Amino acid sequence: MAPRQSRRTATRFAPFNAKPGAGDIIIIGAGLAGLFTALKLAPLPVTVIAAAPLGEGASSMWAQGGIAAAVGEGDSTAKHAADTVAAGAGIVDHEIATLVADEGPARIRDLLSYGVPFDRDLEGHYVLSKEAAHSEKRVVRVSGDRAGAAIMQALIAAVRACPSIRVLEGYEADDLIADDGRVEGVRLIRPAALGNGTYEFVPASAVVLATGGVGALYALTTNPPYARGEAIAMAARAGAVIADPEFVQFHPTAIDADIDPAPLATEALRGEGATLVNSRGERFMLAIDPRGELAPRDVVARAVFAELAEERRVFLDCREAIGARLKDEFPTVYAHCQRAGVDPVRDLIPVAPAEHYHMGGIATDDRGRTSIAGLWAVGEVASTGLHGANRLASNSLLEAVVLGARAAHDISTSLPAGRIGHFVEPKRVPGTRPADPELRAAAVARLRAIMTNYVGVVRNANGLRTALAELRAIQMTSAGDTVLANMTLTARLIAAAALKRKESRGGHFRSDYPETDPSQAKRTFVTLHDLESIERSRAPTQAPQYASGWRA
Ligand code: SIN
Repeated sequence: MAPRQSRRTATRFAPFNAKPGAGDIIIIGAGLAGLFTALKLAPLPVTVIAAAPLGEGASSMWAQGGIAAAVGEGDSTAKHAADTVAAGAGIVDHEIATLVADEGPARIRDLLSYGVPFDRDLEGHYVLSKEAAHSEKRVVRVSGDRAGAAIMQALIAAVRACPSIRVLEGYEADDLIADDGRVEGVRLIRPAALGNGTYEFVPASAVVLATGGVGALYALTTNPPYARGEAIAMAARAGAVIADPEFVQFHPTAIDADIDPAPLATEALRGEGATLVNSRGERFMLAIDPRGELAPRDVVARAVFAELAEERRVFLDCREAIGARLKDEFPTVYAHCQRAGVDPVRDLIPVAPAEHYHMGGIATDDRGRTSIAGLWAVGEVASTGLHGANRLASNSLLEAVVLGARAAHDISTSLPAGRIGHFVEPKRVPGTRPADPELRAAAVARLRAIMTNYVGVVRNANGLRTALAELRAIQMTSAGDTVLANMTLTARLIAAAALKRKESRGGHFRSDYPETDPSQAKRTFVTLHDLESIERSRAPTQAPQYASGWRA
């Protein structure tokens, strides 16, 4: 069934004739998923749109844990897939879990070939970490907790050296231009050079969305500021089906030091034996789950949230289990603690749950195809069904490279050669009035507070209805500010799906429906049309039809 668009919410920002000739393959986003896809597309010419200089805007750069892959002795891809399915609380797509686990070791070898210096022992075996809900030590790492930064540095060097990749830094994409159900190009804004309100259009033979997560929609997040979830709104407005938007993962151990975004204390610390204690000195996790601090992430996040709600502070205690090793083995955490004024060798680290990862996103199949012709999505912005209701730790970087490679293969084998442009220059097009930075900052602060307060770790119908009403009010005032309009629309999709799911499952916990309901063990698929129905609380859901990758 073709997704329908609501006339009221699907307003295109600035209509203009977008009929292109040949267009570039455009990748929006320059984190791990975007850069890996670009490299896998070589030698086809690819344009990467990056809002910030390479390496500065992407969550991947901040990943501490590493990449989960069954490369250890005694491990198997079947065990990895089974752990992924178990963590996902009943709605993981088993086929996707199997193929991602199966292709993991080959993608680790690809990363090695790009120069990623994974930690190895003297015999050349990978040094593997254990994280929550993994049955084996399986997380491949770099210099302890520097996996994200090291992987990104290697890929950035490879991209800079690749003649078929053009990177447009300092450009933000704010709308997809679709014609007759097929994406034809991207509208860009280059705030530094053109000023807000002036746009450029770049035609595309294929668009890959790789923009990361939605953390910046929340007041407390471990994600960088560009993780604004805008591409979900752009895709939804173009008619794409959005999957599982209500499933948001909160990391239980963001360092609680009034720093935005909140620095992360990696779960690998708990894998090494660090414990959680409250301000009474109680190790509260064991009373909640026999797995203690290594219970699934949603369980630990809710337990920490409950302590804070009782006005007891929560701390991560690394002193006995890790002690002085922390400085060398977890240099990123050590640096974060110093910034927060904490000595983790001698002191307790104050922690709180913070938005960390979005399991939901633009619905894609196992080639990264969305429900719109000409549009692919990879990495956190996509929802393949791998993560279900709760992502298994360190599966996100893995999904980024496995699906990035698959999308690249799909694009290169489905695009007619005559459609592929070669570094087509963006053209200026009419824009709207400039956004007012002060109004935007105030509205974004309000939006982030709404999401943390009402669409956070614990939700209920009253709070979600309040959130939807307030988000709609912000949306009404966002005319002319396309960034704010995109952020608000994505936030509404998350809140509406959370209202519709009347049960608790994985990262989605409803205090008014605290049990898991087996009859609701299925994924959510919504379009803009459904959003308005859900806001009126009468919503159908529909499974997506994946588009042919390219359609004339
Ligand atoms: C962490 O290091 O705790 C985060 C890893 C992940 O989110 O997969």
